[in-house]
This record gives sequence, C-alpha cells and structure tokens, in this order.
Amino acid sequence: MGRTNEPPRLPEGSFAAWSRDRLATARRGADECGDVWQLEPGVYVAATAGPCEAVLRRAQDFPKASSPLFPPLKRSTGAPTSEERARAHAARMRGLRPQAVAARIGEIAPGAARFADQWPTGQDVEILPPVRHALAEIGVRYLFSEDAPTLLPFASQLFLAREVLVRPSHWEWPPWIPTPARRFRTRQQTAFTNALRPIVQRRRSSGRLGDDMLGQMLRPSARYGLLPEEAVLDTLPGITVATFETPSRAAGWILLHLARYPQAAGRVAAEAALLPADPAATTSTHLDRLQYTQALVREVLRLHPPSWLLTRRVTRPTELAGYTVDAGSTVLVCPYTAQRDAREHTDPDQFQPERWLDDSGSPAKPGVFLSFGTGPHACEGAALAMAMLTLLTAQTARRCHLSEPRGPEPGYQVTTLEGLATVGLRLRATLRG
Ligand code: HEM
Repeated sequence: MGRTNEPPRLPEGSFAAWSRDRLATARRGADECGDVWQLEPGVYVAATAGPCEAVLRRAQDFPKASSPLFPPLKRSTGAPTSEERARAHAARMRGLRPQAVAARIGEIAPGAARFADQWPTGQDVEILPPVRHALAEIGVRYLFSEDAPTLLPFASQLFLAREVLVRPSHWEWPPWIPTPARRFRTRQQTAFTNALRPIVQRRRSSGRLGDDMLGQMLRPSARYGLLPEEAVLDTLPGITVATFETPSRAAGWILLHLARYPQAAGRVAAEAALLPADPAATTSTHLDRLQYTQALVREVLRLHPPSWLLTRRVTRPTELAGYTVDAGSTVLVCPYTAQRDAREHTDPDQFQPERWLDDSGSPAKPGVFLSFGTGPHACEGAALAMAMLTLLTAQTARRCHLSEPRGPEPGYQVTTLEGLATVGLRLRATLRG
C-alpha cells in the first residue's frame, strides 16, 4: 500500500482560513502540501489531477453520498422498485447523450438568441436572474417540448426549493427531521409531479410520446417494456433543475469574461456572424464550427469550475496517492486546483481559450479538465450544457459588446458555498456596431 502516513496539513488555523476564503485556502493547500492534504481530521482534499481522477473513477472505494436533492416522494401504492428507478435513469441518460443533443440544436438556439436580443442596452443590469430564466426556458423545453410552458413555473419553484435547502446553516439536522426547508421542497416536488402526471398520461393515451427527453422515457424498451409512471415522475424534478442551475452559474463567469476580454469577445462575434439569421435553422454543423467559442466556454469552465469541490465518502480503509485514508473520512475532490496546476496547463491562471485549439483552430489534445467530473458519476448533461452555453455566448457576443460597471466597487461577489458563482453580477451591454 506504499506510504501509510497521513496526508499533510496546513499549519493550525487552516479551518478558520477555509471558512474565510475557501478558494485561497484550497490553493495554499495544493501549493504547500501537494497532491492530497488534510483540511481537518478525517477531511482530505484531492488537489491535483491524478488523485482527483482516481477518486472520481474508483467509485467503489469513494462512493458518492446518496442524498439526492429531490428524493423519491413517499407513496402508499405504486412506489417504483430500485430496478425501475435504475431503468428510468438509463432512459433519461439516453435523452441527454451527445447524439440526442446534436439532433435538437435548432430547438436550443432560439432561446439563446432571445436572451441576447432582450438584454436591455445602455444600463447596468443584474444579469444572473435573466440568464437563469433563459436557460430554464431552454432546458425545460429540451426535456418537455410543447409542454414546457406548463411546467416552467413549477421548475422555478423547484429551483427556489433547492436554494433554500442548500443555504448554509450552523446546524445540520438529521435527514429524517422535516425542517421547514425540507417541507417546502416536498411541497414543490409534489406540485411539479402533479403538473407532470397528466402530461405523461395524455402522451401515453394518445400515443404521441414526443421527441423530447420525456418522450424518450415513455418509449417501451425492447428488453423491459414500459417504465411505470411513478418511476418516470420520480426521476424528473432533479434533472429539471439541473438543466439550468449549474449552467447559469457557468454563464455568469462566461459573460464576465466577454466583458473583460473584448478581443476574445470580438473573435466569438466573428464566428457567430456565420450562424443562420433564423436561430431555429441552427444545426449541430453550425455549432461544431464555433470552435473558438467552444474553446472560450471550456477555458472559463477550467478557470472557474461551477462545481469546484465534489464530495465523496470513504466506506473502507483505502489508499490514495500513497496515503492511507480511513473509513468514515470525507474526500473533497477539487477540480479548481487541479485545473490551475502548472504541470497540467502552461500559465494556468491566464485566460487563454487558444490552449484548447491546435494551430489550425481545431480542438487540441486536452489537458486535465474535470469541470464535468469523470468516472461513473460524470455529468449527464455535459453535451446539453456545452450546446446551451456555446450558443448563448455566441449570440450575446454577436449582438452586444459587454462591459463591467465603472467605479471602485466590484460588480459582483464570488461565492463558493454551493459551487463557484458570481453573485449580483452587473454588466452593461451596448450594441455591437
Ligand atoms: C456548465 C454546466 C454544468 C456543469 C459545470 C456540471 C458539472 C457537473 C459535475 C462536476 C458533476 C459530477 C458531480 C460529482 O461527481 O459529484 C455533475 C453531475 C451531474 N450533472 Fe452536471 N453540470 C452541468 C450541467 C448539467 C446539465 C445541463 C444537466 C442536465 C441536463 C446536468 C446533470 C447532471 C447529473 C444528473 C449529474 C449526476 C450524475 C451522477 O451522479 O451520476 N448537469 N455535473
């Protein structure tokens, strides 16, 4: 098992430093302690590419805690079995795979163009709420097509429930205590499910299942036949919020970079000029041609991974980077430091979208990139997220030149509590001449 010593720790007081500034402390840990370090007894941070990938791939040794934000609703009858849930999950993943997304670019692009067109020009705007709304419209439409308008208000409420649940509190209640936040979550989940149920029933009874992700889940599989209705319903609240929650965090960082790097924004605008005038006519071929825009999105995600710390539990004593990690410990996987490691990327703190392209402007051999995770729990929505964000970036740069508000105060705050986000981000758009 190699070395059996414990991972190094920062000098005393590191936990206080962590509470004050998590990003800076994560960097200090990586710089001063190396691959794996100890934040407090039983809490380890995997800080560089090798250990991060090992933890995420070795899911047997480092399982993901099973505490979904929207656990299955309790039912007196008809509760799906765990096998049915697994089949529903597999069907959902089929609807999100890259080929499925590529076939529906023409449905994603209009929402991105609408966002850019509706950005009020000539004033400082707090932009995350409209970004979130635009991405929710795109995401919910991707899942439910023409039924999206019915479900969108419920999706917003699910998002609110999520916000309340993840709000930091000094006391962590045991999972069975029905705190007000958990009761609110269950109410919103029930309301969403009640709105979705007649849609599922109507599609099934009419035989018009739909070409969207819900339709994918309603089609009988050759091996197992039809999925029970309750299994379909249970798997959808979480994925509905996922379509716009992390993407809107990412979009905040991307728009900030368009404002800070006008030359890069100009290059995006030049690429975007080649998109069809009618956004609904956009295809995956158009998307594939936005090579620089995709590289820019990827570079922003490298520097500011919206999920910058991924948690794993250790259920049996195991080895990590030559250290022994005890059962019962927690490992925090840190894409943020892994992706800013000079051994992985030259000038790692510099914003250089070109690093993802070769000399001919095609995608280059990638350095470490863990912003979508890796291994069995890697992001299911990566293809959809990249399509939405690339089109939003392209359409915004095509129409607008962005800038940060003038003045001594920064136009946003960085928060790292539930992901890395720009809070209160204000930007100003002027029409590109
Ligand atoms: C920029 C946008 C996004 C980023 C940066 C992102 C990032 C991630 C990361 C890092 C993970 C792995 C978590 C872990 O290992 O603990 C993950 C998992 C996941 N993501 Fe995303 N995500 C994004 C967008 C989306 C979208 C659009 C969807 C859905 C349509 C989605 C659905 C999921 C799901 C369902 C999982 C859980 C997979 C599992 O536990 O097996 N994500 N995402």
